[in-house]
Amino acid sequence: MSEKYDVGLGNHNVTLRKNANSDFVSFWDNQAKNLHWFSPWNQTLDWNPPFAKWFVGGKINACYNALDVHQETKSDKPAILWEGENGDSKTIAYSDLFIEVQKFANVLKSLGVIKGDRVTIYLPMVPELIVSMLACARIGAIHTVIFSGFSATSIKDRIDDSKSEIVITADGGYRRGKIIKLKEVVDDAIKDLDFVRHVVVLERTKNPISISSKDKFWNNLMDDASDSCDAERLDSDHPLYILYTSGTTGKPKGVLHGTGGYLTHLYSTFKWAFDIKDSDVFFCTADIGWVTGHSYVVYAPLLHGATQIMYEGAPDFPDNSRMWEILEKYGATIFYTTPTALRMFMKFGDDIPNSFNLSSIRLLGSVGEPINPEVWKWYFKIIGKEKCPIIDTWWQTETGGMMISPLPGLETIPLKPGSGTFPIPGVDISVVDEYGSEIPNNTKGYLVIRKPWPGMLLGLWKNDEKYKSVYWSKYLDCYYPGDYALKDDDGYLWLLGRADDVLKIAGHRLGTAELESCIVSDEHVSESAVCGISDDIKGESIIAFVVLKDGIVIDESLLEKNIFNKIRIDIGPIATPKKIYFVKKLPKTRSGKIMRRLLKSIANGENIGDTSTLDDESAVTEIQKIVNSALN
Ligand code: PRX
Repeated sequence: MSEKYDVGLGNHNVTLRKNANSDFVSFWDNQAKNLHWFSPWNQTLDWNPPFAKWFVGGKINACYNALDVHQETKSDKPAILWEGENGDSKTIAYSDLFIEVQKFANVLKSLGVIKGDRVTIYLPMVPELIVSMLACARIGAIHTVIFSGFSATSIKDRIDDSKSEIVITADGGYRRGKIIKLKEVVDDAIKDLDFVRHVVVLERTKNPISISSKDKFWNNLMDDASDSCDAERLDSDHPLYILYTSGTTGKPKGVLHGTGGYLTHLYSTFKWAFDIKDSDVFFCTADIGWVTGHSYVVYAPLLHGATQIMYEGAPDFPDNSRMWEILEKYGATIFYTTPTALRMFMKFGDDIPNSFNLSSIRLLGSVGEPINPEVWKWYFKIIGKEKCPIIDTWWQTETGGMMISPLPGLETIPLKPGSGTFPIPGVDISVVDEYGSEIPNNTKGYLVIRKPWPGMLLGLWKNDEKYKSVYWSKYLDCYYPGDYALKDDDGYLWLLGRADDVLKIAGHRLGTAELESCIVSDEHVSESAVCGISDDIKGESIIAFVVLKDGIVIDESLLEKNIFNKIRIDIGPIATPKKIYFVKKLPKTRSGKIMRRLLKSIANGENIGDTSTLDDESAVTEIQKIVNSALN
């Protein structure tokens, strides 16, 4: 952990950090002035724990800040350099995007959408996805984007929870050369949801689809729409979007983000972390269906009037050089991706990136999961040619934007491979023990956030009690993100993975509870426990332990297949386990709680540690035998 990489010389931006830490409210008040406000706020922060309202009384619009503000100075500048998986490409200037968004905002209005309505968006990575989100923001509708890898059941649950009466989808999207039939999935999802009034269908692939009376084609609607639509003057805490994310219990929760605070957080972190300049070509590989895409593909780059690359498909299609080809083609200067993608690129070998001219790149980023030091070093050497800082950014769907990261736009500090370095200014983070006390350096503990921050979620959609219990009950007056961390002697923070039952599979967030409830819904299954095991590429992959109902005799490999299939249908292919172990009983505490920690250690071939609370030792012995024989 002592290894340091100096990328340029410099120090902490001491003055700025000091001011930010001594008076975080005034600090953020100043940052908010970088945005356009229709009218100013009269209170910077209304903190009614655990609910924060930022810039109270201020009127703002996210779409206005993303588009209108650039029309005089940057109307011809490319906003999006779009690359389709099938070789299509398109350049969309700020003025083009402005027109498309106003037209689509009028389309939404013509479909009866008004301020506060929810609109579900289930689209591939095409520019119309950004157009749809900004059009919602323009009229004050709340978008709820669903990752295009989720299944019909997942979509149904989300549409039902948010009560979206409008769904925007496409006939299909390209992924690894195949057409993903999104419209078919939506048809299945809404068949029992009578409150859905309209489905807007974009023709992306032109594959045949069935049409119902609810369906309207994107192009037809746009043909008739006016290209002028004023942006609504919205309260600072007007909800901008709901994004569903997995937790430790039940179904995914609707994380609700507001406008003024969220945009302030994004504007500042994008400037500090990426040191953004007018000439930059930014490329974030995240799918917009996840929070990184919402914050650092859609809103932050547009707030800054930046040019960015948007790619539709798989990073290794049609071959392993696709990413580097795109970076070279567009002369990307900033590349922001995930450790999972980097592990895959690293496995493909150095010759591939070395055969491209990547000299335009000046800054590299990582997000979504811990980055292994050897992967960090590979990224630094092979992609960054030892001249580009790597910003390892820690944050969550709930935090809205980056919370821990090196900030080359603000200060140049030595980097340590695998450490996110320090909290962003104006954010108060500590590492504590089980009881909330600060712990000594170099000791693993729990990350907590002590004060509200502007990108903080407003709450969970229609579920204040859950919001309080999930994030604000483990510690008094502190937000609990659910991550392990430690601080070293230089004050650098090291993120050590989830401390709860949330899995990170290829950077995608999934809850053990949703998987387990899907598995036990099979008629043969009595109980199930799911855990993650380490995976060379995906970081973590899923292992399930299953106990059959008494008296059931069944071909286990057939049942395994059926369960895999059920998970694909109920959640989506990303949630498919690597393996299912059929066992007689699960290890439990005397009070009946499943000891997932033990299962995880056994499945990972690690020492199982303290078993003093275990009720029945024989459960562990049997599982060890089954796992060991499968592994050998
Ligand atoms: O465990 C942390 C991990 O991802 C979780 C948040 O997942 P999600 O809400 O899907 O947002 C991902 C994109 C921001 C965190 O609780 N995580 C995220 N970034 C890092 C990370 N773990 C280690 N290092 C990171 N840079």
